[in-house]
Amino acid sequence: MRKLIVAAAVAAAVLASGSAMAQSPIVIKFSHVVANDTPKGKGALKFKELAEKYTNGKVKVEVYPNSTLYKDKEEIEALQLGSVQMLAPSTAKFAPLGAKEFEALDLPWLFKDEATYDKAMKGEIGKWLFKKLEPKGITGLAYWDNGFHMVSSNKPLLNPSDFKGLKFRISGSKIADRYFRDLGAIPQIMAFSEVYQALQTGVVDGCENTPSNYLTQKFHEVQKDITVSYHAHLQYAVIVNSKFWNGLPPDIRKQLDKAMADATDYTNSIATKENEEALAAIKASGKTTLHYLTDAQKAAWQKAMQPTYKWAQGRVGKEVLDLLAKELHLQM
Ligand code: LMR
Repeated sequence: MRKLIVAAAVAAAVLASGSAMAQSPIVIKFSHVVANDTPKGKGALKFKELAEKYTNGKVKVEVYPNSTLYKDKEEIEALQLGSVQMLAPSTAKFAPLGAKEFEALDLPWLFKDEATYDKAMKGEIGKWLFKKLEPKGITGLAYWDNGFHMVSSNKPLLNPSDFKGLKFRISGSKIADRYFRDLGAIPQIMAFSEVYQALQTGVVDGCENTPSNYLTQKFHEVQKDITVSYHAHLQYAVIVNSKFWNGLPPDIRKQLDKAMADATDYTNSIATKENEEALAAIKASGKTTLHYLTDAQKAAWQKAMQPTYKWAQGRVGKEVLDLLAKELHLQM
C-alpha cells in the first residue's frame, strides 16, 4: 500500500512538472542598442506586445534596449551562440556575420528619399540580401527604417574641406569608412554606447546619425554644429537565429510572423515623423546649431564622395551594386 502511495505521488509530481513545462512560455530575448523612445525601440516594444497577444502568452518577449544586455559586436556573437534570439542591428554592422553585401546600403546619396528606400527594400534587393544570411544560420525577418544620417562636429561642416583631419566615429561599415576618408576625415569604428563619452571627451571630433539617435543619446549636447545633410540612410534588419526560429512549433511561428509583420508596418510608419520631431526638439533645445547645405555644397560633397562608389565594388561585389542600380534606375 505504502509503495502504491509513493508511486502515485511520484506520478502526480511528474504530471505536475510536465504541465508546468507545457505552460512555461517560450522566451525571446530581443537585444538592441538604442533608446526605447526611437523608431527601433518602439518597434521592439510593439513586437513584444503583439507577439505575447497573438500567442496568448505562450511566448514572452524580453526587450533589452540601450546596450543593457550587449553592445554592438557582442550582440551579434550572442545571437550566433543562441544567448539572445532576436536583434535588429543596423545593416552597417553585418560584415562580422559574413554578409558584407549589406554595406552597399550605406552608399552616400543612394536613396533619393524615404519612398525610394521603402520601395527598394520591399523589392528584390531586400530578399536577395536576406538570402545571404541563410548559410550563416541567420534568418532575416524584416527591415526597419530609421531615416537619414546627419553629421556633426564642434565646427560647421559645410564644404568637403571642413572635414580635413577630423576624427569621426562610424558604426561599422567600410563604405562609411571610405566616404569619410574621401572627405579627408579619419573614421573610427566604435560601439554606439560609447559615442557620447567619446564626443564629450574629444576621443573623436564628430559622428553621423539620425535625429532620433542624436536626441535620445544627447549627442547634440556635445556637438556644437550639426549639418542636416541626410547623406546616407540608416536601416535595420531584424534577425533571428535560424535554429531557434525553425525549431518553434509551426503555429507559434505563424503568430510571431504576423506580430513581426504588424510591428514592421508600425515601425516604418512612425520612423519619418519620429525623426522630424526629434530634429525639432534638437533645434528647440538651443544646445547646437543646425546647418543645411546649399545645392552647390551638396554637389561638392557628392563629388568628393564619388570615389566610394567605384571602391565599393571590391568590398561588396558587383552583384549587389547591379541589383541596386537596376532597382533605383541609377548608373553606378
Ligand atoms: C549606430 O551604431 O550608430 C546605430 O547603428 C545605432 C542604431 O542601432 O541605430
